[in-house]
Amino acid sequence: MNGRLRDEYDVDDLNERLSGTAFAGHLHYLPSIDSTNRLAMQEAAEGAPAGSVYVAGQQTMGRGRGRHIWHSAPGEGLYASVLLRPHLAPADSLWFSLAAGLAVRQAVLNVTSLAADIRWPNDLLLGRRKFCGILAELNAEVTRVRHLVIGIGINVHQEHFPEDVAPTATSLRLETGRAWPRQDLLLALLQSLHREATGLGQDPSIAAADLLHRLEQASTWIRGKRVQVGEEEGYTGTTAGLDECGFLLVESAGRLRTVLSGSVREAEAKIPETGAGQ
Ligand code: BTN
Repeated sequence: MNGRLRDEYDVDDLNERLSGTAFAGHLHYLPSIDSTNRLAMQEAAEGAPAGSVYVAGQQTMGRGRGRHIWHSAPGEGLYASVLLRPHLAPADSLWFSLAAGLAVRQAVLNVTSLAADIRWPNDLLLGRRKFCGILAELNAEVTRVRHLVIGIGINVHQEHFPEDVAPTATSLRLETGRAWPRQDLLLALLQSLHREATGLGQDPSIAAADLLHRLEQASTWIRGKRVQVGEEEGYTGTTAGLDECGFLLVESAGRLRTVLSGSVREAEAKIPETGAGQ
């Protein structure tokens, strides 16, 4: 098969089917771009409206979390960045990033029936392998978010991965033996994201409690998982829920530590961990 050759986006159809959401009429397709997150941050700074979505056929310099890159070969994955202008304090912005993980999970479940695990903050895994990464980037004053860009990369059609990520990456195709249309995935994703953003926009504290509940149901990583936090100077411990801002708590050597940054990996993982972003 070469399903990916026919797997193009129909932007007009998406714009129409997203009617009633902030994304309708704001979808932009770029056949090739360095990074949709880079573009979205730039467009945001230049006044692009909330709800703008930038979708690429390929990225030549896809950004991952930390200093990782996101391999973004032509036609293989879904590469999209969504621009939001939420009315919230920067301290609450992690909830949007967590909600994006739940939105992708729901979209993938709706389209493929696969129930992904969520590794805090928002990596999506099938088994022990990652098929989706989310990079949320923020432009803020101390008390006010100017704009938030949520960049989502989903491995859809990949049958092979570059060496650095091959031991830990997977795709929807590899997991199911089927080609899933990126159009359907993107539509489902933006519909889910619309629901999550609407909830957070109404009453962030109620939405956060609801998110926490749903995350605990959807993720094996929030509580009771033995993890390695960070790399060389890191530590191991057992996950113990999220704090009031959505940061992961880890019980380690008799004390509760908050994971503010750094990667979280399963301790004593059975497949080699590379630390790479995909
Ligand atoms: C991660 O390291 O897990 C985050 C990966 C995020 C990749 C997506 S692909 C679309 C958007 N544009 C980018 O440059 N990065 C994000």
